[in-house]
Amino acid sequence: MEGVIVEVEVDISPGLPSFIIVGLPDKAVQEARERVRSAIRNSGYSFPSRRITVNLAPADIRKEGPAYDMPIAIGIMISSGQLYADLSHSIFLGELSLDGKLRHTHGILPMVALAHNKGLSTVFVPLDDAKEASLIEDIHIFPAESLAQLVTHLRCEISIPEYHSDINWLQETHNDYAFDLSYIKGQEHAKRALEIAAAGRHNILMCGPPGSGKTMLARSLPSILPRLTMEEAIEVTKIYSVSGLLPQDTPIIMERPFRSPHHNVSHAGLVGGGQWPRPGEISLSHYGVLFLDEFPEFGHSTLESLRQPMEDRTITVSRAHASITFPASFMLVAAMNPCPCGYYGDPFKECKCSPGEISRYHKRLSGPLLDRIDIFIDVPHIDYEKLTEDKLTETSEKVRERVKLAHEIQVKRFQVTRLNCNAAMTPKEVKEFCIVESAAQSLLRSAMKQLHLTARAFHRVLKLSRTIADLEHSDIIKTYHVAEAIQYRHKEII
Ligand SMILES: Nc1ncnc2c1ncn2[C@@H]1O[C@H](COP(=O)(O)OP(=O)(O)OP(=O)(O)O)[C@@H](O)[C@H]1O
Ligand SMILES: [Mg+2]
Repeated sequence: MEGVIVEVEVDISPGLPSFIIVGLPDKAVQEARERVRSAIRNSGYSFPSRRITVNLAPADIRKEGPAYDMPIAIGIMISSGQLYADLSHSIFLGELSLDGKLRHTHGILPMVALAHNKGLSTVFVPLDDAKEASLIEDIHIFPAESLAQLVTHLRCEISIPEYHSDINWLQETHNDYAFDLSYIKGQEHAKRALEIAAAGRHNILMCGPPGSGKTMLARSLPSILPRLTMEEAIEVTKIYSVSGLLPQDTPIIMERPFRSPHHNVSHAGLVGGGQWPRPGEISLSHYGVLFLDEFPEFGHSTLESLRQPMEDRTITVSRAHASITFPASFMLVAAMNPCPCGYYGDPFKECKCSPGEISRYHKRLSGPLLDRIDIFIDVPHIDYEKLTEDKLTETSEKVRERVKLAHEIQVKRFQVTRLNCNAAMTPKEVKEFCIVESAAQSLLRSAMKQLHLTARAFHRVLKLSRTIADLEHSDIIKTYHVAEAIQYRHKEII
């Protein structure tokens, strides 16, 4: 995701006509030969029928994808004496089509960001990607429609106008969410817990019988999450851009990601992997939500692989060819039934599972994994009266306002640190920011003893109390804030 500048060297020498690319090109880069040859000819220039060698330096890093088409074509134009230009401060990115047009290319944003960091002043990108590139400020962006247009610009014949974006990405647009908290009847305590979880980005596990609204609650979460800040948005967009998941008409992702992989997702699909490591679901939900529905069905080893990234908020994927670290600061939202049949503990319906089955089901969730979850809530069956009552419940918009204010308090608090939410605090910050009033000390002490809280769980209670206090705009963490936080630690529901 950080990237390296690749220099494209082209040499044309006498000999039998050939065209080779060296410097660890992958299949797509190899195929650039065919695209570049046709594109140059079809743009009205001549393609030298001599021995052409293209070297992509540094030679020990593998080059992937079609973004090298444009620099290779420009390199050949220069080497064959059809173009004279000083390109020392420029970077070229883009895939060519056979007729010489420039196509939308993945990963433009991280590449332009790198060019900017390395002090390059000018980027040439396909027209379709100009919007994405323009997210990086203080760099000149020239959008080219075709190779011919680019060459005439570099020859100083007809200039391409520099691209300036007039879009204010931070401006809040009205969003239509598919789910709204007001559609969900009853379950007030679950909604409150979701609000707290969203405000401090705490992990949450919902447990209850079938059809009680767990999936519905989780799916309405995006409607109460605050928007990403600009830096967060660029980081998230980079991940989507390198994964090739950035839609062409969405140059930047401003909404927090919400990912809900199915429980048969592979290990590599969840945490990242592949021969050349790619980000997995946990990285795609960076700064957003990873929703694991039917939590125990994911399988023990898949779930265990979440333990390390949940603590470190990054994941390092090592393969024979490369070892890559991806960001993975996600908020885990999990939903499950209390037993395989779903009715264990239900007051109305009898559970048909044997004690052995229930304990096997629960064993899929290990102690260390559950220890990383801040909020446990029970989502019980709701009755006919509740379901049909006309009482208007709070809309997501109202809840989102409160969450936004609590979020702003956190942004201010962590200004000087690299953190951005209460859940990410390390013991050092917990000590600094989670000071509870003296009356709450004895409550914490007895909770530690009676609930057998681990040291980690203790810190998690303090962080959760901080968020609950933030939702009330209270600087001090009061006893009742701590009491509410402790109440969410009751793991007996599962
Ligand atoms: N609290 C509720 N208010 C309104 N509708 C509800 C509520 N709970 C459930 N429903 C209705 O039931 C349907 C199923 O709910 P949902 O999928 O959220 O259940 P679930 O708890 O995830 O069940 P399962 O354990 O089987 O996955 C919803 O689409 C909705 O129509
Ligand atoms: Mg469900």
